[in-house]
Amino acid sequence: MKRIYLDNSASTRTDPRVVEAMLPYFSEFYGNASSLHGFGREVKEVMAHSRATIAALIGAGPQEIVFTSSGTESNNFALKGIAFANRDKGNHIITTALEHDSVISPCEWLKGQGFIVTYLPVDVDGLIDINDLQKAIRKETILVSVMQANNEIGTIEPIREAGKICRACGIYFHSDACQSFGRIPVDVHGPCLDLLTINAHKIYGPKGIGALFVREGTKIMPWQQGGGHEMGLRSATENIPAIVGFAKAAELCVEEMSGEAKRELRLREKIIDAVLHDYPFAYLNGHREHRLPNNISFGFAGLEGDAIRLLLELDEMGIAVSSGSACSANGGGHKTSHVLSAIGLDPVRARGALRISLGRFNTEDDVNVFLSKLAHVLGSLKPLTSVF
Ligand SMILES: Cc1ncc(COP(=O)(O)O)c(C=O)c1O
Repeated sequence: MKRIYLDNSASTRTDPRVVEAMLPYFSEFYGNASSLHGFGREVKEVMAHSRATIAALIGAGPQEIVFTSSGTESNNFALKGIAFANRDKGNHIITTALEHDSVISPCEWLKGQGFIVTYLPVDVDGLIDINDLQKAIRKETILVSVMQANNEIGTIEPIREAGKICRACGIYFHSDACQSFGRIPVDVHGPCLDLLTINAHKIYGPKGIGALFVREGTKIMPWQQGGGHEMGLRSATENIPAIVGFAKAAELCVEEMSGEAKRELRLREKIIDAVLHDYPFAYLNGHREHRLPNNISFGFAGLEGDAIRLLLELDEMGIAVSSGSACSANGGGHKTSHVLSAIGLDPVRARGALRISLGRFNTEDDVNVFLSKLAHVLGSLKPLTSVF
């Protein structure tokens, strides 16, 4: 049975061109970038080149890119690093109700350390209101964090406007771009960003590597002490093969972005149109236009409690999608999604969504097979209500 992967927001297949670029750095060029000998110097040079490549793609300087292990680490570093370094200025942080857990959890942890966190609400499509941000700012506000695009429903936030407000008020502005980098244009100047989180495994690069852009002059506390790597901001021996792969993956995504976004958008619209037309009880979560070209999130009225069953039945037929909410098939937990709750879905509806996320390796044929398997599975499940 041919398996079809439609969960590219969770992670992507590493592009063979990325694997090829990484291979020499396992057993041919394997030195430690901190070593003074030739083995060290040659990888140090490659690392500098990779750093410069990634920096240029987002309009940053190479010295402003700090390599980390992941998007999660970059988000933790941004929030905790800014909070603790700027405690003398204030203790208030603003973020949104639909951030990834790797922003929400550190914010909740910071609350226990004496910080105050405001979560901006979002509308039915998942968009923040810029006026709410303006109103939430206080004299103690030191940091605002707004994701560029949401991982569950794909909604793209107005970070350009948010960043301008922060800059005018002298407040640090961070954005989590793990879902948007490589898919839509990302640059640090337009939105006046001081900090930006990106990672590689969402863009056909390897897992276990991410970066935080830290604008030069930003007051941030290193979160990991040791040998003083990464301009003293993140100690640990650098993962050279992963860094090389990250840079190659980022380069390919940006080079191929406009054609790929159009292709994915066409496939996305084909799925949305077909599902909304064929199933009157289906509804789309997230904004119809302000959304990532590869993201689709459906709810099926009356079938929310069956979201995991739907996912598992599709999986048995070789189709990999996501529930799009914080559910765990093996842990038995089926929690409400904070993102679906934030857009106003009631607790029953917030339990079940089907996220289909397209990627570089998906074809029109994959979409046709998905639609026919979905018809089969939905035919065997009887929705409790027929109209949303
Ligand atoms: C929006 C967003 N932020 C952060 C992360 C965490 O990234 P990583 O898996 O590299 O820790 C993810 C990954 O799921 C994400 O989608």
